[in-house]
Amino acid sequence: MYKLVIKGGKTLNGTVKIAGSKNAALPILFASILADGPLKVNNIPHLSDVSTTLRLLMDMGAEFILESDNSLHIDASKLTKLTGEYSLVKTMRASILALGPMLAKYKKAKISLPGGCAIGTRPVNLHLKALEELSAKIEVKGGYIYATTDQLIGTDIHFEQVSVTATENILMAATLAQGQSTIHNAAQEPEIVDLANCLISMGAKITGAGTAIISIQGVSNLSGISHSVCPDRIEAGTYLVAAAITGGKITLKNARPQSMQAVIDKLIETGADISYGKNSITLDMKGERPKAVNIKTSAYPNFPTDMQAQFCALNCIADGQSAITETIFENRFMHIPELSRMGAQLTLEGNTVICKGVKSLTGANLMATDLRASASLVLAGLAATGTTTIERVYHLDRGYETIEEKLKLLGAQIERIQD
Ligand code: UD1
Repeated sequence: MYKLVIKGGKTLNGTVKIAGSKNAALPILFASILADGPLKVNNIPHLSDVSTTLRLLMDMGAEFILESDNSLHIDASKLTKLTGEYSLVKTMRASILALGPMLAKYKKAKISLPGGCAIGTRPVNLHLKALEELSAKIEVKGGYIYATTDQLIGTDIHFEQVSVTATENILMAATLAQGQSTIHNAAQEPEIVDLANCLISMGAKITGAGTAIISIQGVSNLSGISHSVCPDRIEAGTYLVAAAITGGKITLKNARPQSMQAVIDKLIETGADISYGKNSITLDMKGERPKAVNIKTSAYPNFPTDMQAQFCALNCIADGQSAITETIFENRFMHIPELSRMGAQLTLEGNTVICKGVKSLTGANLMATDLRASASLVLAGLAATGTTTIERVYHLDRGYETIEEKLKLLGAQIERIQD
């Protein structure tokens, strides 16, 4: 087991290159099941969730080659096993994204139910109901989803709640359905637009991705193409907070500011100077202590739940009192007890955390609990006085490519050590 050891108090300065988006890369890799030939996917991030996806696809019969320039050649066009095994699915909930493509292409799929996770129960009822509306027969037994169809038939899908991966699953399934499908109350995240663009290059007929209504005209087959994954707006936001929390100045390369306006607006509210270049963002905190900001998470284009924990860390050392309300997941405050151990003044009231900013946090031994909570502990450790040790680093490796190397380049004192 590895842990991160951070000697806090260093101001971050410099330039960091943002990787391809995890949440765009995963559905795009699953979309390769739909193609009749190999896909070349560029700007693939080096993350354990990507490795899990590739292991799952390989177990089903896919083949791939990863090049040194972060491009991946994947051929999932002839699967030999239409089962997503529990042993792989349990480590990554996004594995449910195999269901729509498998069912659309092979008219049959068996995939383990993902189960709950640290941030909530996270059911998949929306995915299953919408697939049934597309004429699939779904049965759940022994912890597995069994899905069959004679032919998926396009229809109107009305999601009762906005869901990112449910929108992606149905979007992928509908590309090979017979006739027209319309998804109402679709999620509008940039990662859905990236997936739709990839599917359109493959030959799919899709309009409206990035809005609440997506229309898909089914086609009989899709082909292999080359596609570049969009930059990771959550990784980008996390590094901007790292600069803000340490009073530093950093430039992000390979970033897309237009996809992260809600986060940038909040950073400006903390007192940060933000400027833009071509595919780059610079944040300058000019050595100032950030001002506390109130936040309410909600679906895109509003403030993302995946940035809530990082801003919670920032508010801990900010000037003033703040309230952060989480509306997407019911249990996404696992970072609160750990931040409190560093001297943060946090009180949880229902789904809102009230924070009284303190001038500084003190380093402590901490336990990472989930991906974004872990990122918040790293940020707190960077700002704290003394040494912070973070155990269970594997949570961070799911979504941050070589985080300690990138932070070191910005001047942080951080090491990954083996227990
Ligand atoms: C995706 C992202 C994740 C992000 C989340 C919300 C990926 C791989 N993951 O997760 O990083 O935090 O969006 O922006 O893209 N729900 C149901 N039934 C369902 C599906 C969802 O009740 O069938 C609920 C969830 O429990 C949650 C809400 O809907 O309360 C939104 O979740 P959803 O958008 O589905 O999250 P994911 O797609 O799993």
